[in-house]
Amino acid sequence: MTGSKMFKAMVVEEVEKNQFTRKITEKSFKDLPQSDVLVKVHYSSLNYKDALSAIGNKGVTRNYPHTPGIDAAGVVEESSDRRFKSGDEVIVTSYDLGMNTSGGFGQYIRVPAEWVVPMPDGLTVRDSMIYGTAGFTAALSVHQLVEHGVLPEKGNVLVSGATGGVGGVAVSILSKIGYFVVAINGITDQSDYLKDIGAKSVISIEDAADKSGKPLLKARWSGSIDTVGGDILATSIKSTAPGGAVTCCGNAASPDLPINVFPFILRGITLIGIDSQNCPMDVRKKMWEKLADKWRIPQFEKMVSEISLDQLDQRIDMMMNRKHRGRTIVRLIS
Ligand SMILES: NC(=O)c1ccc[n+]([C@@H]2O[C@H](COP(=O)([O-])OP(=O)(O)OC[C@H]3O[C@@H](n4cnc5c(N)ncnc54)[C@H](OP(=O)(O)O)[C@@H]3O)[C@@H](O)[C@H]2O)c1
Repeated sequence: MTGSKMFKAMVVEEVEKNQFTRKITEKSFKDLPQSDVLVKVHYSSLNYKDALSAIGNKGVTRNYPHTPGIDAAGVVEESSDRRFKSGDEVIVTSYDLGMNTSGGFGQYIRVPAEWVVPMPDGLTVRDSMIYGTAGFTAALSVHQLVEHGVLPEKGNVLVSGATGGVGGVAVSILSKIGYFVVAINGITDQSDYLKDIGAKSVISIEDAADKSGKPLLKARWSGSIDTVGGDILATSIKSTAPGGAVTCCGNAASPDLPINVFPFILRGITLIGIDSQNCPMDVRKKMWEKLADKWRIPQFEKMVSEISLDQLDQRIDMMMNRKHRGRTIVRLIS
């Protein structure tokens, strides 16, 4: 069916050792891996990990040339697996997509059936990519806070990286389900935007990153969702009330965690790691169903900007230079 047809994709190449270029070019279907399900990608989205893959970060992508894009949503074109048939709307995120498997920044992907999530009722293909891996990770983080008893009546909840994708969707979900959300601002003043997407209060990065070196700080939060790591994560753990919980999914600021054991042994704080990539399929489907229904955020359009594949190069630079806000979705169909 695909024959000798070509399709458009971003290709990142290592032109010299540790020197990378990226361009939008034509790729052949033969460049895709042999696998179960061929998906025509309608939308992808830009995540921090995609920006890292696109600049040649070998911790994310070992081998180049490569097409990044950890997110893809579209329509099944061919499937050798009985669970999917031509015409089904599907979501594919994480696993190895866009890391070492040709990803969603191309008009087609071919992936194992085990990676494919049927589009839940209530979501369009476009909606699903406004969430993307960022929204899915936000949902996993909220789910973990709830499971650990951090409920709205327990007090304020802090969210870091709130101007970005994971943090922004987390702010909106928490606010929708009744939490008093305090958002940490970015390097530029985005407090109006943060309030628009659901934050009740906004604090600065300086306020969120204690430099005193004290092992414990005044309890300010019943829990928090952290996406940046480093001093901000350490400070939120030290500022969490007894019995509270903190989720940790990212390292946009730092992979370090400068802290000692006192918040854990004197306040019983729980630190919860979030790994969206290897999330089992049953939990994955449950999270997508929540995002489509009970946790569906009303602030979609305030958070998103839609671009074409040709505009992606510039967006990647913006993300790496902290000039990006909210969610960017990439339209791959004309
Ligand atoms: N574990 C998982 O499964 C998983 C899944 C998805 C994402 N992640 C990770 O989560 C993190 C966020 O991803 P994303 O897609 O939401 O990225 P994003 O859209 O680029 O957002 C990054 C956020 O971090 C903030 N930030 C960046 N550098 C910072 C610094 N030095 N100090 C304080 N804040 C800083 C940015 O604030 P500004 O407004 O100032 O730029 C922005 O709010 C990344 O580390 C990503 O790899 C992990």
